[in-house]
Amino acid sequence: MNNQQVIELSQRYLMPTYSPLPVAFVQGEGCQLWDADGKEYLDFVGGISVVATGHCHPQVVAAICEQAGKLMHTSNLYHIPLQGQLAKRLTEISCADRCFFCNSGAEANEAAIKLARKWAGINRGGECFEIITAEQSFHGRTLATVAATGQEKFQMNFRPMPTGFRYVPFNDVGALEEAISEQTCAVMLESIQAEGGINVPDDDYLPRVRELCSEQGILLILDEVQTGMGRTGRWFGYEHADITPDIITLAKALGSGFPIGACLAKEDIANAFQPGDHASTFGGNHLSCAAALATIKVIADEGLVANAARMGNLLEELITDELSEVPGFDHIRGRGLLLAVQFTPEVSAKAVQNQCLATGLVVNAMGDDRVRLAPPLVVSEADCRRAVAILAGAVRKVAGN
Ligand SMILES: Cc1ncc(COP(=O)(O)O)c(C=O)c1O
Repeated sequence: MNNQQVIELSQRYLMPTYSPLPVAFVQGEGCQLWDADGKEYLDFVGGISVVATGHCHPQVVAAICEQAGKLMHTSNLYHIPLQGQLAKRLTEISCADRCFFCNSGAEANEAAIKLARKWAGINRGGECFEIITAEQSFHGRTLATVAATGQEKFQMNFRPMPTGFRYVPFNDVGALEEAISEQTCAVMLESIQAEGGINVPDDDYLPRVRELCSEQGILLILDEVQTGMGRTGRWFGYEHADITPDIITLAKALGSGFPIGACLAKEDIANAFQPGDHASTFGGNHLSCAAALATIKVIADEGLVANAARMGNLLEELITDELSEVPGFDHIRGRGLLLAVQFTPEVSAKAVQNQCLATGLVVNAMGDDRVRLAPPLVVSEADCRRAVAILAGAVRKVAGN
């Protein structure tokens, strides 16, 4: 099938929940992608912060293939050897003590919400169930995680929302302090707001939130679904703030594209969950754990966390140098390999995205006036230089220079 045939089939048979760009990728290697017409692209989206180890990393492919040939799924009715190994590895690289495995970021956050409520029920009484989240946050598309997401556009059309969530402006400790009440059991934040536009909080924000949560005896849940697994130049975004959350949620890059999510927690909180409280048919099965273990090994062995920090700095420098004289460019923000290039209102991010795609670079338009760059963590200096040259050309063309 060529691109056009794929597009016609999708348009005829899929529910119209997405508005995909007119391209169908069929093969990948590292930071390269090929579409169904044989055209090559440099991928600076990485499946939206998913493909940390690059497309089809040989060690990840081998781990998945080997496990697929041995045993893919039994059930959490029985012990799963790789699940304990993966949980152990995650506790070694994070501040958590125990893990629950699921299949997506939304599910990881559902688990965190249920765990926080159960913990509060035991420790604070049944009236204490409210979770404070941030405006412009994004926590997923299930009903509870849409309710946790502080953006009207995701909630409208689907009311009534589950109750028990309250929103405060991000990066405003005073507002958070005022919102905390007897009913509050937890605060749930992204360490950098990703879908909300790549919003990096002030350096003292997360440390002060941590202090406040500890003083008030409430939990700090950090949604590291997009920022976790090395993307920001540390294994987890919270490390930049030198704090430890009580609960961490992960998904996206955890399996290099193989679906797996995780909710991690400190010992005393994790133990609020008892048999029967939470479960998932597929969560942490043999195959997804094999993919995640191989992913963590590759990230560690190839120094990809440090590479994310180095390449992120390089991209910021190159983009500032190349684009600062280009009308329409405003600034670049973010951390590590989670970056937003912000344009002035005259430049359409969609037009830049489309022009990049036409010239062989995959970037992601976020809203009207910025594009996200989130390449695989294996990205090289040569890839970054090539991407910035294509991006600069696209912005010049769209801005009419
Ligand atoms: C911070 C954050 N949390 C949760 C999610 C939801 O993840 P999933 O789409 O795997 O359910 C996303 C997805 O973009 C995200 O960025």
